[in-house]
Amino acid sequence: MECKTVEILKKYHQEHILNYLDLLTEEEKKKLEEQILKIDFEQLKDLFQTTQKETCIEEKKIEHIPYKDKAKISDEKKLELEQIGNDIISSGHYAVITMAGGQGTRLGHVAPKGTYLLNTINGEKYLFEIIVDTLKQAQKKYKINIPWYIMTSRENNKQTVEFFEEHEYFNYDKSKVKFFVQGELPLIDTNGKLILNKEKQIKEAADGNGGIYEAIAKSGLLQEMKKDGIEWIFISNVDNILSNFIDPLLLGLTVQENRKIAAKSVAKTNPKEKVGVFCKMNGKPKIIEYIDLPQEMAEEVDENGELIYGEVNIANYLFHRTVLENLADIKLPYHAAFKKSGYLAENGEYIESDKPNVYKFETFIFDAFGRYEDMTILRVKREDEFAPVKNREGTDSPETAVSLYNAKMQKNIINSK
Ligand code: UTP
Repeated sequence: MECKTVEILKKYHQEHILNYLDLLTEEEKKKLEEQILKIDFEQLKDLFQTTQKETCIEEKKIEHIPYKDKAKISDEKKLELEQIGNDIISSGHYAVITMAGGQGTRLGHVAPKGTYLLNTINGEKYLFEIIVDTLKQAQKKYKINIPWYIMTSRENNKQTVEFFEEHEYFNYDKSKVKFFVQGELPLIDTNGKLILNKEKQIKEAADGNGGIYEAIAKSGLLQEMKKDGIEWIFISNVDNILSNFIDPLLLGLTVQENRKIAAKSVAKTNPKEKVGVFCKMNGKPKIIEYIDLPQEMAEEVDENGELIYGEVNIANYLFHRTVLENLADIKLPYHAAFKKSGYLAENGEYIESDKPNVYKFETFIFDAFGRYEDMTILRVKREDEFAPVKNREGTDSPETAVSLYNAKMQKNIINSK
Protein backbone atom coordinates (compact mmCIF):
# COMPACT_ATOMS: atom_id res chain seq x y z
CA MET A 1 0.00 0.00 0.00
CA GLU A 2 1.29 3.49 -0.88
CA CYS A 3 2.80 5.61 1.93
CA LYS A 4 0.14 8.25 1.38
CA THR A 5 -2.66 5.77 2.01
CA VAL A 6 -0.96 4.37 5.11
CA GLU A 7 -0.52 7.92 6.42
CA ILE A 8 -4.19 8.68 5.92
CA LEU A 9 -5.16 5.52 7.81
CA LYS A 10 -2.80 6.38 10.67
CA LYS A 11 -3.89 10.00 10.83
CA TYR A 12 -7.51 8.92 11.27
CA HIS A 13 -6.79 5.97 13.59
CA GLN A 14 -7.84 3.41 11.00
CA GLU A 15 -4.55 1.55 10.80
CA HIS A 16 -6.28 -1.71 11.79
CA ILE A 17 -7.14 -1.96 8.08
CA LEU A 18 -3.44 -2.74 7.46
CA ASN A 19 -3.84 -5.94 9.47
CA TYR A 20 -6.05 -7.33 6.72
CA LEU A 21 -3.60 -6.83 3.86
CA ASP A 22 -2.23 -10.39 4.04
CA LEU A 23 -5.71 -11.70 3.28
CA LEU A 24 -6.02 -9.67 0.10
CA THR A 25 -4.92 -10.38 -3.48
CA GLU A 26 -3.02 -7.63 -5.33
CA GLU A 27 -6.20 -6.76 -7.19
CA GLU A 28 -8.19 -6.48 -3.93
CA LYS A 29 -5.47 -4.34 -2.37
CA LYS A 30 -5.62 -1.96 -5.33
CA LYS A 31 -9.39 -1.64 -5.06
CA LEU A 32 -9.21 -1.10 -1.30
CA GLU A 33 -6.61 1.61 -1.76
CA GLU A 34 -8.73 3.39 -4.35
CA GLN A 35 -11.68 3.21 -1.97
CA ILE A 36 -9.67 4.64 0.94
CA LEU A 37 -8.51 7.57 -1.17
CA LYS A 38 -12.12 8.45 -1.96
CA ILE A 39 -13.34 8.52 1.66
CA ASP A 40 -13.86 11.88 3.32
CA PHE A 41 -12.25 11.00 6.67
CA GLU A 42 -12.81 14.44 8.16
CA GLN A 43 -16.54 14.06 7.57
CA LEU A 44 -16.48 10.57 9.03
CA LYS A 45 -14.65 11.82 12.12
CA ASP A 46 -17.29 14.53 12.61
CA LEU A 47 -20.07 12.02 12.10
CA PHE A 48 -18.64 9.66 14.69
CA GLN A 49 -18.43 12.53 17.16
CA THR A 50 -22.14 13.18 16.69
CA THR A 51 -22.87 9.63 17.91
CA GLN A 52 -21.17 10.46 21.19
CA LYS A 53 -23.32 13.52 21.95
CA GLU A 54 -26.95 13.94 22.94
CA THR A 55 -28.99 16.20 20.67
CA CYS A 56 -31.62 18.40 22.21
CA ILE A 57 -34.45 20.39 20.79
CA GLU A 58 -35.76 23.56 22.40
CA GLU A 59 -39.44 23.10 23.10
CA LYS A 60 -40.43 26.68 22.47
CA LYS A 61 -39.60 26.48 18.78
CA ILE A 62 -42.12 23.71 18.06
CA GLU A 63 -45.68 24.48 16.97
CA HIS A 64 -48.66 22.64 15.56
CA ILE A 65 -48.87 22.37 11.76
CA PRO A 66 -52.24 22.88 10.03
CA TYR A 67 -53.59 19.99 7.97
CA LYS A 68 -56.74 18.99 6.08
CA ASP A 69 -58.60 15.86 7.09
CA LYS A 70 -59.80 13.92 4.05
CA ALA A 71 -62.75 12.59 6.06
CA LYS A 72 -63.96 16.14 6.66
CA ILE A 73 -63.76 17.41 3.08
CA SER A 74 -67.25 17.56 1.54
CA ASP A 75 -68.05 15.30 -1.43
CA GLU A 76 -68.51 18.34 -3.60
CA LYS A 77 -65.12 19.78 -2.67
CA LYS A 78 -63.50 16.36 -3.15
CA LEU A 79 -64.84 16.17 -6.69
CA GLU A 80 -63.54 19.65 -7.46
CA LEU A 81 -60.05 18.87 -6.12
CA GLU A 82 -59.90 15.45 -7.76
CA GLN A 83 -60.79 17.01 -11.08
CA ILE A 84 -57.72 19.26 -10.83
CA GLY A 85 -55.54 16.25 -9.98
CA ASN A 86 -57.06 13.99 -12.64
CA ASP A 87 -56.42 16.56 -15.36
CA ILE A 88 -52.74 16.80 -14.40
CA ILE A 89 -52.29 13.04 -14.26
CA SER A 90 -54.13 12.23 -17.47
CA SER A 91 -52.21 14.85 -19.40
CA GLY A 92 -48.92 13.13 -18.49
CA HIS A 93 -47.54 15.62 -15.98
CA TYR A 94 -47.24 13.17 -13.08
CA ALA A 95 -44.52 10.68 -12.13
CA VAL A 96 -43.75 8.39 -9.24
CA ILE A 97 -40.53 7.65 -7.38
CA THR A 98 -40.08 4.65 -5.11
CA MET A 99 -37.25 4.82 -2.62
CA ALA A 100 -35.75 1.35 -2.52
CA GLY A 101 -32.14 2.02 -1.58
CA GLY A 102 -32.49 0.94 2.05
CA GLN A 103 -30.96 -2.19 3.52
CA GLY A 104 -34.07 -3.54 5.18
CA THR A 105 -32.03 -4.78 8.11
CA ARG A 106 -35.00 -5.10 10.47
CA LEU A 107 -36.86 -7.34 8.02
CA GLY A 108 -33.74 -9.42 7.57
CA HIS A 109 -34.48 -10.34 3.94
CA VAL A 110 -31.19 -11.10 2.17
CA ALA A 111 -32.18 -9.48 -1.13
CA PRO A 112 -33.50 -5.94 -1.91
CA LYS A 113 -36.58 -5.25 0.21
CA GLY A 114 -38.83 -4.80 -2.84
CA THR A 115 -38.20 -8.45 -3.75
CA TYR A 116 -39.79 -9.66 -0.51
CA LEU A 117 -42.70 -12.01 -1.19
CA LEU A 118 -46.00 -11.71 0.70
CA ASN A 119 -48.87 -14.13 0.79
CA THR A 120 -51.96 -11.97 0.25
CA ILE A 121 -55.62 -12.45 -0.47
CA ASN A 122 -54.72 -11.72 -4.12
CA GLY A 123 -52.08 -14.47 -4.13
CA GLU A 124 -48.33 -14.29 -3.59
CA LYS A 125 -47.02 -10.84 -4.36
CA TYR A 126 -43.65 -9.14 -4.17
CA LEU A 127 -43.50 -5.66 -2.65
CA PHE A 128 -42.49 -4.24 -6.04
CA GLU A 129 -45.37 -6.11 -7.69
CA ILE A 130 -47.88 -4.47 -5.36
CA ILE A 131 -46.62 -1.09 -6.54
CA VAL A 132 -47.03 -2.21 -10.15
CA ASP A 133 -50.64 -3.20 -9.38
CA THR A 134 -51.39 0.43 -8.48
CA LEU A 135 -49.61 1.70 -11.59
CA LYS A 136 -51.67 -0.68 -13.70
CA GLN A 137 -54.92 0.51 -12.14
CA ALA A 138 -53.90 4.06 -13.01
CA GLN A 139 -53.13 2.91 -16.54
CA LYS A 140 -56.74 1.74 -16.89
CA LYS A 141 -58.16 4.89 -15.36
CA TYR A 142 -55.99 7.50 -17.09
CA LYS A 143 -55.08 5.59 -20.29
CA ILE A 144 -51.41 6.38 -19.84
CA ASN A 145 -48.38 4.64 -18.40
CA ILE A 146 -47.14 6.79 -15.55
CA PRO A 147 -43.33 7.04 -15.42
CA TRP A 148 -41.84 5.17 -12.48
CA TYR A 149 -38.40 5.90 -11.09
CA ILE A 150 -36.81 3.57 -8.58
CA MET A 151 -34.01 4.70 -6.30
CA THR A 152 -31.58 1.89 -5.51
CA SER A 153 -28.22 1.76 -3.76
CA ARG A 154 -24.87 0.58 -5.09
CA GLU A 155 -25.37 -2.45 -2.90
CA ASN A 156 -28.73 -3.51 -4.34
CA ASN A 157 -28.99 -1.91 -7.79
CA LYS A 158 -27.80 -4.91 -9.81
CA GLN A 159 -30.05 -7.34 -7.98
CA THR A 160 -33.03 -4.98 -8.27
CA VAL A 161 -32.64 -4.50 -12.03
CA GLU A 162 -32.15 -8.23 -12.53
CA PHE A 163 -35.28 -8.93 -10.53
CA PHE A 164 -37.34 -6.67 -12.79
CA GLU A 165 -35.85 -8.25 -15.93
CA GLU A 166 -36.57 -11.72 -14.60
CA HIS A 167 -40.19 -10.78 -13.86
CA GLU A 168 -40.59 -8.86 -17.11
CA TYR A 169 -41.47 -5.73 -15.20
CA PHE A 170 -44.66 -7.45 -14.10
CA ASN A 171 -46.05 -6.50 -17.53
CA TYR A 172 -45.73 -2.79 -16.95
CA ASP A 173 -44.27 -0.75 -19.82
CA LYS A 174 -40.52 -1.30 -19.33
CA SER A 175 -39.64 1.95 -21.09
CA LYS A 176 -41.42 3.83 -18.29
CA VAL A 177 -39.36 2.25 -15.51
CA LYS A 178 -35.97 3.84 -14.72
CA PHE A 179 -33.49 3.15 -11.94
CA PHE A 180 -31.10 5.58 -10.30
CA VAL A 181 -28.48 4.88 -7.69
CA GLN A 182 -27.96 6.86 -4.50
CA GLY A 183 -24.71 7.69 -2.70
CA GLU A 184 -22.96 5.75 0.07
CA LEU A 185 -20.98 6.30 3.25
CA PRO A 186 -18.74 3.90 5.19
CA LEU A 187 -20.15 2.17 8.26
CA ILE A 188 -18.19 2.49 11.48
CA ASP A 189 -18.21 0.46 14.65
CA THR A 190 -18.72 1.74 18.18
CA ASN A 191 -15.06 2.74 18.37
CA GLY A 192 -15.27 4.78 15.20
CA LYS A 193 -13.40 2.12 13.16
CA LEU A 194 -14.09 1.16 9.56
CA ILE A 195 -15.13 -2.45 8.93
CA LEU A 196 -14.57 -4.70 5.91
CA ASN A 197 -17.18 -6.64 3.93
CA LYS A 198 -17.09 -10.14 2.44
CA GLU A 199 -15.31 -8.80 -0.64
CA LYS A 200 -12.55 -7.51 1.68
CA GLN A 201 -13.40 -3.92 0.88
CA ILE A 202 -14.51 -1.17 3.26
CA LYS A 203 -18.14 -1.73 4.08
CA GLU A 204 -20.32 1.13 2.93
CA ALA A 205 -24.09 1.62 2.92
CA ALA A 206 -26.62 3.92 1.32
CA ASP A 207 -26.53 7.37 2.91
CA GLY A 208 -30.24 7.58 3.76
CA ASN A 209 -33.27 8.51 1.69
CA GLY A 210 -32.21 12.17 1.85
CA GLY A 211 -29.64 11.13 -0.74
CA ILE A 212 -32.49 11.26 -3.23
CA TYR A 213 -32.03 14.95 -4.07
CA GLU A 214 -28.45 14.62 -5.19
CA ALA A 215 -28.96 11.21 -6.75
CA ILE A 216 -31.90 12.12 -8.97
CA ALA A 217 -30.19 15.31 -10.15
CA LYS A 218 -26.91 13.53 -10.89
CA SER A 219 -28.67 10.72 -12.73
CA GLY A 220 -29.93 13.11 -15.40
CA LEU A 221 -33.49 11.95 -14.77
CA LEU A 222 -34.63 15.35 -13.49
CA GLN A 223 -33.68 16.96 -16.76
CA GLU A 224 -35.45 14.13 -18.56
CA MET A 225 -38.60 14.75 -16.49
CA LYS A 226 -38.53 18.41 -17.42
CA LYS A 227 -38.16 17.57 -21.10
CA ASP A 228 -41.06 15.11 -20.83
CA GLY A 229 -43.31 17.70 -19.18
CA ILE A 230 -43.42 16.05 -15.73
CA GLU A 231 -44.48 18.63 -13.17
CA TRP A 232 -45.46 16.68 -10.09
CA ILE A 233 -43.63 13.75 -8.53
CA PHE A 234 -44.96 11.51 -5.79
CA ILE A 235 -42.23 9.93 -3.65
CA SER A 236 -42.82 7.03 -1.30
CA ASN A 237 -41.23 4.01 0.33
CA VAL A 238 -40.98 0.56 -1.15
CA ASP A 239 -42.49 -1.05 1.92
CA ASN A 240 -45.96 0.47 2.43
CA ILE A 241 -48.25 -2.01 0.70
CA LEU A 242 -51.28 0.28 0.93
CA SER A 243 -49.55 3.35 -0.45
CA ASN A 244 -52.02 5.34 -2.53
CA PHE A 245 -49.38 7.13 -4.54
CA ILE A 246 -51.54 8.19 -7.46
CA ASP A 247 -53.82 10.48 -5.58
CA PRO A 248 -55.68 13.20 -7.50
CA LEU A 249 -57.14 14.57 -4.26
CA LEU A 250 -53.76 15.35 -2.70
CA LEU A 251 -52.58 16.77 -6.00
CA GLY A 252 -55.65 18.99 -6.43
CA LEU A 253 -55.42 20.20 -2.84
CA THR A 254 -51.74 21.07 -3.20
CA VAL A 255 -52.37 22.99 -6.42
CA GLN A 256 -55.31 24.82 -4.87
CA GLU A 257 -53.34 25.70 -1.74
CA ASN A 258 -50.64 26.99 -4.06
CA ARG A 259 -47.95 24.86 -2.45
CA LYS A 260 -44.98 23.07 -3.96
CA ILE A 261 -44.62 20.29 -1.37
CA ALA A 262 -47.25 18.07 0.21
CA ALA A 263 -47.46 14.99 2.35
CA LYS A 264 -50.06 12.62 3.71
CA SER A 265 -50.41 11.84 7.37
CA VAL A 266 -52.44 9.52 9.57
CA ALA A 267 -53.66 10.28 13.08
CA LYS A 268 -51.35 9.20 15.87
CA THR A 269 -53.09 6.48 17.85
CA ASN A 270 -51.76 7.48 21.29
CA PRO A 271 -49.13 9.86 22.72
CA LYS A 272 -46.67 7.02 23.19
CA GLU A 273 -46.76 5.69 19.63
CA LYS A 274 -43.18 5.58 18.33
CA VAL A 275 -43.61 7.60 15.16
CA GLY A 276 -42.41 10.86 13.63
CA VAL A 277 -45.00 13.63 13.47
CA PHE A 278 -45.34 16.79 11.42
CA CYS A 279 -44.95 20.11 13.19
CA LYS A 280 -43.56 23.54 12.58
CA MET A 281 -40.17 24.33 13.95
CA ASN A 282 -39.06 27.93 13.88
CA GLY A 283 -42.07 28.54 11.65
CA LYS A 284 -41.05 25.99 9.01
CA PRO A 285 -42.45 22.50 8.30
CA LYS A 286 -40.58 19.75 10.09
CA ILE A 287 -40.93 16.13 11.10
CA ILE A 288 -40.03 15.53 14.68
CA GLU A 289 -39.09 12.03 15.76
CA TYR A 290 -40.86 10.59 18.82
CA ILE A 291 -37.62 10.50 20.70
CA ASP A 292 -37.18 14.27 20.29
CA LEU A 293 -40.76 15.22 21.21
CA PRO A 294 -40.97 16.07 24.92
CA GLN A 295 -43.58 13.95 26.69
CA GLU A 296 -45.81 16.86 27.72
CA MET A 297 -45.96 18.04 24.12
CA ALA A 298 -46.66 14.52 22.90
CA GLU A 299 -49.65 14.46 25.26
CA GLU A 300 -50.97 17.97 24.49
CA VAL A 301 -54.50 18.03 23.04
CA ASP A 302 -56.64 20.74 21.41
CA GLU A 303 -60.20 21.80 22.33
CA ASN A 304 -61.56 18.73 20.51
CA GLY A 305 -59.33 16.38 22.44
CA GLU A 306 -57.10 15.73 19.40
CA LEU A 307 -53.33 15.47 19.82
CA ILE A 308 -51.72 18.76 18.77
CA TYR A 309 -48.70 16.86 17.48
CA GLY A 310 -50.69 13.98 16.08
CA GLU A 311 -50.01 13.96 12.33
CA VAL A 312 -47.93 10.85 11.72
CA ASN A 313 -45.50 10.90 8.82
CA ILE A 314 -46.21 7.94 6.50
CA ALA A 315 -43.54 8.86 3.95
CA ASN A 316 -45.99 9.84 1.23
CA TYR A 317 -44.62 13.01 -0.31
CA LEU A 318 -45.59 15.08 -3.30
CA PHE A 319 -43.10 17.49 -4.86
CA HIS A 320 -43.28 19.95 -7.68
CA ARG A 321 -40.40 19.17 -10.04
CA THR A 322 -38.84 22.59 -9.45
CA VAL A 323 -38.44 21.75 -5.76
CA LEU A 324 -36.29 18.76 -6.66
CA GLU A 325 -34.28 20.99 -8.98
CA ASN A 326 -33.77 23.56 -6.23
CA LEU A 327 -32.76 20.96 -3.68
CA ALA A 328 -30.22 19.17 -5.90
CA ASP A 329 -27.24 20.58 -3.95
CA ILE A 330 -28.82 20.61 -0.49
CA LYS A 331 -26.63 19.57 2.43
CA LEU A 332 -28.81 17.76 4.93
CA PRO A 333 -27.88 16.85 8.50
CA TYR A 334 -26.79 13.28 9.12
CA HIS A 335 -28.54 11.07 11.66
CA ALA A 336 -26.74 8.08 13.10
CA ALA A 337 -28.62 4.79 13.11
CA PHE A 338 -27.28 1.88 15.15
CA LYS A 339 -27.67 -1.26 13.05
CA LYS A 340 -26.65 -4.88 12.72
CA SER A 341 -23.95 -5.60 10.21
CA GLY A 342 -21.75 -8.54 9.28
CA TYR A 343 -18.01 -7.83 9.14
CA LEU A 344 -14.73 -9.49 8.28
CA ALA A 345 -12.63 -10.47 11.27
CA GLU A 346 -8.86 -10.12 11.05
CA ASN A 347 -8.49 -13.91 10.69
CA GLY A 348 -10.55 -13.73 7.48
CA GLU A 349 -13.73 -15.13 8.97
CA TYR A 350 -16.94 -13.29 8.08
CA ILE A 351 -19.02 -12.74 11.19
CA GLU A 352 -22.75 -11.99 11.19
CA SER A 353 -23.79 -9.87 14.11
CA ASP A 354 -26.93 -10.79 16.04
CA LYS A 355 -27.21 -7.35 17.62
CA PRO A 356 -26.62 -3.77 16.46
CA ASN A 357 -22.89 -3.18 16.16
CA VAL A 358 -22.30 -0.37 13.66
CA TYR A 359 -23.33 3.19 13.01
CA LYS A 360 -24.86 3.99 9.67
CA PHE A 361 -25.15 7.65 8.76
CA GLU A 362 -28.26 8.74 7.00
CA THR A 363 -29.88 11.93 5.80
CA PHE A 364 -33.67 12.06 5.66
CA ILE A 365 -35.70 13.27 2.71
CA PHE A 366 -38.01 15.24 5.00
CA ASP A 367 -35.23 17.31 6.55
CA ALA A 368 -35.41 19.42 3.39
CA PHE A 369 -39.00 20.52 4.07
CA GLY A 370 -37.77 23.34 6.29
CA ARG A 371 -36.44 25.05 3.17
CA TYR A 372 -40.05 25.88 2.35
CA GLU A 373 -42.36 28.16 4.26
CA ASP A 374 -45.32 25.84 4.06
CA MET A 375 -46.55 22.52 2.82
CA THR A 376 -49.92 20.88 2.29
CA ILE A 377 -50.76 18.06 4.68
CA LEU A 378 -53.65 15.73 4.01
CA ARG A 379 -54.72 13.42 6.79
CA VAL A 380 -55.95 10.08 5.45
CA LYS A 381 -57.25 6.96 7.16
CA ARG A 382 -54.55 4.63 8.40
CA GLU A 383 -56.46 1.49 7.40
CA ASP A 384 -56.77 2.83 3.85
CA GLU A 385 -53.22 3.91 3.13
CA PHE A 386 -50.67 2.68 5.62
CA ALA A 387 -49.44 -0.89 5.97
CA PRO A 388 -45.66 -0.86 6.34
CA VAL A 389 -43.42 -3.93 6.25
CA LYS A 390 -40.53 -3.04 8.54
CA ASN A 391 -39.92 -5.77 11.09
CA ARG A 392 -39.64 -9.50 10.72
CA GLU A 393 -42.41 -9.99 13.29
CA GLY A 394 -44.64 -8.04 15.68
CA THR A 395 -45.70 -4.50 14.73
CA ASP A 396 -45.28 -3.38 11.14
CA SER A 397 -44.39 -6.89 10.05
CA PRO A 398 -45.41 -8.88 6.94
CA GLU A 399 -48.21 -10.39 9.03
CA THR A 400 -49.74 -7.08 10.18
CA ALA A 401 -49.27 -5.47 6.75
CA VAL A 402 -50.91 -8.35 4.90
CA SER A 403 -53.84 -8.35 7.26
CA LEU A 404 -54.40 -4.61 6.62
CA TYR A 405 -53.95 -5.15 2.89
CA ASN A 406 -56.44 -8.01 2.82
CA ALA A 407 -59.01 -6.00 4.78
CA LYS A 408 -58.65 -3.10 2.33
CA MET A 409 -59.01 -5.39 -0.71
CA GLN A 410 -62.19 -6.86 0.77
CA LYS A 411 -63.55 -3.40 1.48
CA ASN A 412 -62.84 -2.40 -2.15
CA ILE A 413 -64.79 -5.43 -3.39
CA ILE A 414 -67.76 -4.56 -1.20
CA ASN A 415 -67.65 -0.89 -2.29
CA SER A 416 -67.55 -1.82 -5.97
CA LYS A 417 -70.72 -3.93 -5.69
P1 UTP B 1 -36.20 2.72 6.41
O1 UTP B 1 -35.64 3.84 7.18
O2 UTP B 1 -37.40 2.04 6.92
O3 UTP B 1 -35.02 1.69 6.18
O4 UTP B 1 -36.44 3.22 4.94
P2 UTP B 1 -34.99 0.26 5.51
O5 UTP B 1 -33.72 0.17 4.78
O6 UTP B 1 -36.18 -0.04 4.66
O7 UTP B 1 -35.01 -0.71 6.74
P3 UTP B 1 -34.08 -0.86 8.03
O8 UTP B 1 -34.18 0.42 8.80
O9 UTP B 1 -32.67 -1.12 7.56
O10 UTP B 1 -34.66 -2.02 8.72
C1 UTP B 1 -37.59 3.89 4.52
C2 UTP B 1 -37.56 3.92 2.99
O11 UTP B 1 -36.44 4.66 2.53
C3 UTP B 1 -35.67 3.85 1.67
C4 UTP B 1 -36.00 2.42 2.01
O12 UTP B 1 -35.73 1.56 0.93
C5 UTP B 1 -37.46 2.53 2.37
O13 UTP B 1 -38.28 2.50 1.22
N1 UTP B 1 -34.25 4.17 1.86
C6 UTP B 1 -33.72 4.12 3.10
C7 UTP B 1 -33.50 4.49 0.78
O14 UTP B 1 -34.01 4.52 -0.37
N2 UTP B 1 -32.19 4.77 0.97
C8 UTP B 1 -31.62 4.73 2.18
O15 UTP B 1 -30.41 5.00 2.28
C9 UTP B 1 -32.40 4.41 3.28
